[in-house]
Formats: sequence, structure tokens, C-alpha cells
Amino acid sequence: MTETRDALIDAARDAASRAYAPYSGFHVGAALLLKNGDVVTGANVENASYGLTLCAETAAVAKIANEGWIGELAEVAIVGGRPDGDALTGSDPVNPCGRCRQILNEAAERSQTDILVHCASGDGSAVQTWKLSELLPAAFGPKDLGLVD
Ligand code: THU
Repeated sequence: MTETRDALIDAARDAASRAYAPYSGFHVGAALLLKNGDVVTGANVENASYGLTLCAETAAVAKIANEGWIGELAEVAIVGGRPDGDALTGSDPVNPCGRCRQILNEAAERSQTDILVHCASGDGSAVQTWKLSELLPAAFGPKDLGLVD
């Protein structure tokens, strides 16, 4: 549903405004739609030790896991770009990095859903929607350790 998609992208965009990204200057927001309709967001958190940076998706998945909702994921939106005032710039959709695909897969498998991942550009002009199984084919996950069917 486009309405769901657009509301989720708006939530991700709002989250991106709270990114802590003084090193890259690239602000990313992720919004996780839960099966009950709630939305949980996260934004990237950078670190002076660059490799310790937390991506937006990772921050958001940590939030739902810590609330006991890792098995409640339904859909995801990601938006990113460089801020220009209150707006984000950039016309290419931002795709989740490899580590984030794996982290999203953990929640998706526990939720028994091949979730849709909406990837939006900073300027809002482009959105590309993927199934997680397209972004991370032949994933290794909880099913391989006997935690889900
Ligand atoms: N970033 C994310 O938050 N999610 C991704 O999937 C890709 C990259 C962040 C990490 C870093 O703070 C900035 O974008 C530039 O790489």
C-alpha cells in the first residue's frame, strides 16, 4: 500500500533529522513497521573511532529487540542524504549496507515475513522497494539454527 509506504518513509525522514553523523555528514533514518501498526525508528550514530559507527537500521532493530518485539517486524523504510537546512539532499535511493541486511534478516526471519524494504532518496524523488530476500538471497539466519521453520 502506497499510503503505508509513504508514511513509513516520512517516519524514516524524521528519524534522520536526529542522526549523529558529524564525520560523514550523511544522515540516515530507518523506520520499522510492526505487525500491530506501531512504528519504531532509528538513525545512524557515528563514533570518533569510525568503524564503530552504528547504522540507522541497526539502531532501530536494537530498539525493537530490546522491547521484546524482534518477532513483530512487518516492513521497513530507509532514507538518507546530506542535510541542507531541514531537508535532505540526494536523488539516489539509499540501500541498506551488508551488515544491516543481515541484521534486518534476523528480525524478518523471527517475524516469519519476507519484509518489504522501501529505500528512498534524500530529496524524496526516488523510492525503490525490495523484498529482503532480494537484498540478501540465500541468507543465513535463525532458521539455520533451528529457531524458526
Ligand atoms: N549508514 C546507515 O546508517 N545505514 C546504511 O545502511 C548505510 C550507511 C550510515 C553509516 C554512516 O554513518 C553513514 O551512513 C555513511 O556511511
